[in-house]
Amino acid sequence: MSPLIAVTRRITGQWEERLRAAGCELRLPPAGADAPMPRPQLLEHIKGADGVLAMLTDRFDAEAFDAAGPQLRVVANYAVGFNNIDTAEATRRGVAVTNTPDVLTAATADIAWALLMASARRLGESERDLRAGKFHGWGPNDYLGMDLDGKTLGILGPGRIGTVIAKRSIGWDMKVLYAHPTGKPDFERETGAKNVALDQLLRESDFIVSALPLNDRTKHLIGAPQFAIMKKTAVLVSVGRGPVIDEAALVTALREKQIFAAGLDVYEFEPKLADGLMQLENAVLLPHIGSGSVGARADMAIMAVDNILAAVSGKRPPQLVNSDWQPKTGA
Ligand code: GLV
Ligand code: GLV
Repeated sequence: MSPLIAVTRRITGQWEERLRAAGCELRLPPAGADAPMPRPQLLEHIKGADGVLAMLTDRFDAEAFDAAGPQLRVVANYAVGFNNIDTAEATRRGVAVTNTPDVLTAATADIAWALLMASARRLGESERDLRAGKFHGWGPNDYLGMDLDGKTLGILGPGRIGTVIAKRSIGWDMKVLYAHPTGKPDFERETGAKNVALDQLLRESDFIVSALPLNDRTKHLIGAPQFAIMKKTAVLVSVGRGPVIDEAALVTALREKQIFAAGLDVYEFEPKLADGLMQLENAVLLPHIGSGSVGARADMAIMAVDNILAAVSGKRPPQLVNSDWQPKTGA
């Protein structure tokens, strides 16, 4: 019996060879297609699959599990975040859910720093002006931005990515704050960060970086009341999940100069942006490319495949996220 693996989007790396070598039958998206599958096509595409290699743009809920059928054993998300998958529903149905942590941590931390620097030093705005023919020579007052050296960095989300973001701040002699209800000794040991209340972090940080996943506790963690207590010179960076920030409130805060700038890689309603965001000069806006390095994406593919191969052969996948999952018996 060769397991049928549905892949919802063509990705880079050695995934196809690896799946075929393991005896899997593949169902691939149509040649040349490079967009998230429209819902009806996705539901059709996963029908009868034993495993799905899924993108973060594919929603896996009861409807999708029904469409796939009872033989489904694993949904391997090609992402570290897995808020697109109803994990409780997956567990109920004996479907393993896996993600791709670690291999994209450095790439995503790099994008956080790229956004931090670009927003602080107004790279988006000044580059747009140059391309528009507005560079008339050096000027003493042009595009003055924020200094980084010796400033305070507030990390929201002291996980893998938050840790590497914090460690990279050593070159700028930054003081690092984080806000965690019980504290994370490992994070403190690795980064020298200090645990404070969220309000204190927001008040004292010059740079606030969110690497938070999306869940009930993090949705709209940052909204109007939080912008109101940030420094007017503060820069906010977001690389985890968009809905952590109330994006309409962010537009207001940026427009009214309640904060200096923001750098975003993720959005509340991707691929839509909140009204007015795109018109703001003090926002640097990237199209969700955090894990988009050649190395990270290749490694994510291999990790997803290895998780699929473990699950379809009845083993516990290494990057299982629904830890209460029990393999299906009988099949
Ligand atoms: C990207 O956003 C990911 O979760 O991997
Ligand atoms: C995700 O990789 C995280 O823990 O930040």
